[in-house]
Amino acid sequence: MSEPIRVVVTGAAGQIAYSLLYMVAKGDVFGPNQPLILHLLDIPPMMGVLEGVVMELADCALPLLQAVVPTADPAVAFKDVSSAFLVGSMPRREGMERKDLLSANVKIFKVQGEALDKYAKKDVKVLVVGNPANTNALVCSRYAPSIPKENFTAMTRLDQNRAQAQIAAKVGVPVAQVSNVIIWGNHSSTQFPDAAHAVVVVDGKEVKASEVVKDSDWIRNTFVQTVQKRGAAVIGARKMSSAMSAAKAACDHMKDWFSGTAPGKFVSMGVISDGSYGAPKDVVFSFPVSIQNGKWQIAQGLLLDDFAKEMLATTGKELVEERAEATAVVEA
Ligand code: NAI
Repeated sequence: MSEPIRVVVTGAAGQIAYSLLYMVAKGDVFGPNQPLILHLLDIPPMMGVLEGVVMELADCALPLLQAVVPTADPAVAFKDVSSAFLVGSMPRREGMERKDLLSANVKIFKVQGEALDKYAKKDVKVLVVGNPANTNALVCSRYAPSIPKENFTAMTRLDQNRAQAQIAAKVGVPVAQVSNVIIWGNHSSTQFPDAAHAVVVVDGKEVKASEVVKDSDWIRNTFVQTVQKRGAAVIGARKMSSAMSAAKAACDHMKDWFSGTAPGKFVSMGVISDGSYGAPKDVVFSFPVSIQNGKWQIAQGLLLDDFAKEMLATTGKELVEERAEATAVVEA
């Protein structure tokens, strides 16, 4: 057994964390031989609920979990962490404009960026789940100048998993036989779920998804809209937002980041944009990435048709607008 690593989960008393903590603590992310110390951050009014979560983690009797540190203090929460799941944020309340939500949340990520800068390990891997995830990740990184920008990412893996599941269902194969579906841009309704580079394993051979689906209208319309609106569909049915699937996606994202992607495969992550594929620079934009030795690289050389270029431009424009709004808030 190796030395334990410290992992922080923020929003630890919330509903995504309720699924996420169990998955992380039982080894789904860092493997069956990596002991952990979990740091759980939430706000002071949630400390009672958090105590209940701590009791349940103890009652799970998980062999890898060496200690749990519940706290409302970012200085304690981010101390010496190697991995950070930033889930906590303010939920949208009735009557709240998108702008109000953005303004409340980017302030949280400014504070947490500063705390990461001061207290976390310099090679900490940060995954932002709390919305608006891409712009929160950008703000967080700006306030943590001593940590490389590449270490701040936003979650679009849930969208990728949803897209993969839609294609698998359409062609009638297990989900593991579908790969290389891409989510471009923002984790919002402007995202572009792209099946053009996806492959499906049929009779032991990889075939382009479009050749198996054989329905370009479905790929361009039904598929794209189903994935874009899936979050709203879950809220409509469950009266609460996606939590179990969001937690699973967060684990997938962090696991691939730590352990790498298979040759020829890529996954989607919101990462700092270098302008690849005509995306705006210096926003956190979801790209297909391959990962080796804990470092991601944007997959290059994929051909985009005019439809795809238009979709990327729309979601890129939204991210530039969000960046301007966020900058106005944090610099006010
Ligand atoms: P929730 O409302 O159940 O839990 C959020 C928790 O964050 C609460 O316990 C709250 O007290 C805590 N919190 C608020 N401010 C905090 C702060 N400054 N520091 C630490 N904790 C703080 O929400 P849920 O369902 O767990 O979702 C969390 C976030 O994840 C939301 O922003 C949601 O929109 C987002 N989300 C993102 C997805 C993605 O694909 N990127 C998918 C699903 C949800």
